Amino acid sequence: MPTPHISAEPGAFAEAVLLPGDPLRARYIAEQFLDDAHEVTAVRNMLGFTGAYRGMPVSVMGTGMGIPSASIYATELVKEYGVRRLVRVGSCGGVGEGIGLRDVVLAAGACTDSQVNRARYGGQDFAAIADFALLRAAADAADRAGVAVRVGNVHSADLFYDPRSTQLDMFRRMGVLAIEMEAAGLYGVAAEHGARALGIMTVSDLVPSGEQTSSDERERTFGEMVTIALEALVADAA
Ligand code: HPA
Repeated sequence: MPTPHISAEPGAFAEAVLLPGDPLRARYIAEQFLDDAHEVTAVRNMLGFTGAYRGMPVSVMGTGMGIPSASIYATELVKEYGVRRLVRVGSCGGVGEGIGLRDVVLAAGACTDSQVNRARYGGQDFAAIADFALLRAAADAADRAGVAVRVGNVHSADLFYDPRSTQLDMFRRMGVLAIEMEAAGLYGVAAEHGARALGIMTVSDLVPSGEQTSSDERERTFGEMVTIALEALVADAA
């Protein structure tokens, strides 16, 4: 059944879905990486596609930015379309010691200042973690591709423009690798509904210095990350 935010027919999504923030990135992934991809939803221009990768059915859909938006799509995909594996592919701001532009970060865990997981977990601190099998498959796929990855905590921020000046020091002190805006919500949705999730992010900027990747570099590293995500899904299904 179509949902308030997704107009696809029942069965239109594969059980595995890649989730970029930007719906145009969803179209790019569908066109460049999937075979026989076709559009399945476009409510609010939040485009979704289904195709195949190495013969495995896979979908890709934009989530928009931030935990509230991503949580709406992830919840409807899992509850109404039978999606079981959710892999976010996005960008992040590097904050950790030694983290570099273009590094690929696998979010083993996601800290947050959002209240969503406390709402789910009786006001207490739920540890928002990646599915271990997907995490291991992604780390292995990156190794095979010769792409260096960092595995650890990210921080899923509610505020992109955060006025608190002490946040960065806290992230570094606590070993957080990078900031982004969705993973903790995605992991909470997956836990609540018995699905499996992983966040893979490339470092698009370094928060302490403000240094950024060029658009060419972003496209290349984005492609590496998408390949890692798709290869991980194939290996995990085997
Ligand atoms: N903050 C939050 N999300 C991000 C950032 C950032 O600095 N960079 C890329 N995604």
